[in-house]
Amino acid sequence: KRLVVLVSGSGTNLQALLDAIEETGTGEYGAEIVAVGADRDGIEGLARAERAGLPTFVVRVKDHATREEWDAALAAAVADHRPDLVVSAGFMKIVGKEFLARFGGRFVNTHPALLPSFPGAHGVRDALAYGAKVTGCTVHFVDDGVDTGPIIAQGVVEIRDEDDEGALHERIKEVERRLLVDVVGRIARNGYRIEGRKVVIP
Ligand code: GRF
Repeated sequence: KRLVVLVSGSGTNLQALLDAIEETGTGEYGAEIVAVGADRDGIEGLARAERAGLPTFVVRVKDHATREEWDAALAAAVADHRPDLVVSAGFMKIVGKEFLARFGGRFVNTHPALLPSFPGAHGVRDALAYGAKVTGCTVHFVDDGVDTGPIIAQGVVEIRDEDDEGALHERIKEVERRLLVDVVGRIARNGYRIEGRKVVIP
């Protein structure tokens, strides 16, 4: 299976996928990353892709007259690599109708909270501020909402009294990287079906 991964930051989730595929082998893992895309230049995630010898592309909102044109340009850039599955690994933009028309149902996102709790761009900070005792991460299919698509897998992380946002996010990311590598591999190898809101990976 062909994966395109979208990033906006450090790309440690991307790196986890790259390392897993390198260690396991594309055949065994069931997927290979064919390109990495971003919404901004100069991020570590793109540097990681380049070090891995992968094609990269950047589609910036400010280069397009409207958000819809950005969305269509992003969809076209992704489509150029003929992905079977698109993975948002810390991609910090909400995609629109065109993107979902082309990749909905095969577009996976990872979120650093236990959805439906604490959706949006500050899930780690919100869980901490709320005084939650556990939080975690969620891998889900992207639908036309924000972090509302069918949940594929979740991992639980305890919140400690001494946690600040950075410490908690790092602990979440340790679980998240393993969850994402596991889910992407299983979907690539086994396929999946969605029954209402329930995702079943045989
Ligand atoms: C991840 O925790 C992701 O869930 C969140 O931002 C973080 C990205 O980390 N949206 P990285 O860029 O993969 O290191």
